[in-house]
Amino acid sequence: MKKQQSNLPFRPRRLRKNDSIRRLVRETQVRNDDLIYPLFVRDGKNLKSEILSMPGVYHFSPDSILHEIEALLKLGLDRTILFGIPNKKDEIGSDVISENGIVQRTAKEIKSRFPEMYLISDVCMCEYTNHGHCGIIIDNEVHNDTTLTYLQKQAVSHAQAGIDMVAPSGMMDGMIEVIREGLDDAEFAGTPIMSYAAKYSSAFYGPFRDAVESTPQFGDRKQYQMDPANSREALKEVDLDMAEGADIIMIKPAMAYLDIISQVKDICALPIAAYNVSGEYSMVKAAAEKGWIDEAKVRDELLLSIKRAGADIIISYFAKEFVS
Ligand code: PBG
Repeated sequence: MKKQQSNLPFRPRRLRKNDSIRRLVRETQVRNDDLIYPLFVRDGKNLKSEILSMPGVYHFSPDSILHEIEALLKLGLDRTILFGIPNKKDEIGSDVISENGIVQRTAKEIKSRFPEMYLISDVCMCEYTNHGHCGIIIDNEVHNDTTLTYLQKQAVSHAQAGIDMVAPSGMMDGMIEVIREGLDDAEFAGTPIMSYAAKYSSAFYGPFRDAVESTPQFGDRKQYQMDPANSREALKEVDLDMAEGADIIMIKPAMAYLDIISQVKDICALPIAAYNVSGEYSMVKAAAEKGWIDEAKVRDELLLSIKRAGADIIISYFAKEFVS
């Protein structure tokens, strides 16, 4: 059959002809160096137990985590964010400020063996309180200003244990300023703060809360985490955190909030991080387990979309598989 050829002026398909030209005009790329891998640590010996709702993600103990750190370094992944689950949780999350706290002990272990691993810590109270809220409860509410004192002590205590960067995630007003002051006074002026600046009250955290047993025992987090319906409010939160001295701004979750990432990128000159959270990870894993999607391709497309939206840094449970 004779080929039909009209005189179309524009033919974008020219640049999609083969892989070579497609790679040449590719605008976005996820680099291994864009990624931060989260790790969960709890008390115990030789522990490596898979988290039921997060296939491929494990609870480690302060000793067994060293093997994982070694494996990550071999893969070229030299940044992790640590989440601790203490043995005992109480009303005021005492483990948070103890120099023998789970994160503090683990950080010392890791740094003594693998100083080249860049350690970031989640600074928040929900993993440590028996009520599962992100702060100190007074009159049935998380009391903002009382909580700030704890967050400041937690950040300083983490830095003293060797943590390289702190990541406050509690959404308390003024937390960045107070933590910056605390770090500076304790001679950690060089320790950066990555602020969970726009953190939404999201159902996508479900699997994580199973992992750290932090589901609130009463109420929810809507008094401090943001309403998913709001985007201008995210810009306000970002402005405040920049003014308070944040070094990196984080948006969380990522997938359902790509518009927020993009808007924040337009107004903020700091590096933008996005947290590809537990629910986003587990949905992909579950669908792949059923054979409904191609896991690696969907994973790569998701990470790409987060980068394309404007994130410079992606925190993701997929990081290890991505670089493997
Ligand atoms: C709070 C914190 C949470 C996550 C990271 N830091 C949970 C929450 O706010 O309930 C969620 C991460 C995820 O879902 O992967 N310390």
